[in-house]
Amino acid sequence: PTIHFTSFTGQTQSIDAPENDVLMQAAVRNGVTGIDADCGGQCACATCHVYIDSPWLEQLPAMEAHEDQMLELANERRANSRLSCQIKLTAALDGMQVHTPEGQH
Ligand code: FES
Repeated sequence: PTIHFTSFTGQTQSIDAPENDVLMQAAVRNGVTGIDADCGGQCACATCHVYIDSPWLEQLPAMEAHEDQMLELANERRANSRLSCQIKLTAALDGMQVHTPEGQH
């Protein structure tokens, strides 16, 4: 799927990633700014925090309790907050709009 990232300043980057790739890993590999991912995808740092736009947000599997707990530690949690290391890419996510939080820039 193709994924579009927008930073808090409005800069956009688009990447193509294979299905079953992890959103955080695809972003880091493609040099997307605004995703730190300090823990390397262990769901233990909350610095891969992103905001997912509708209708893609609703396509994602419900978050696990651990992701929910880590997001409580993230800055500026919103209703559409997710941890990008917990999102596996599927064809249904093609065109997904992702926003990166100010705190990770
Ligand atoms: Fe650390 Fe996602 S990379 S919580």
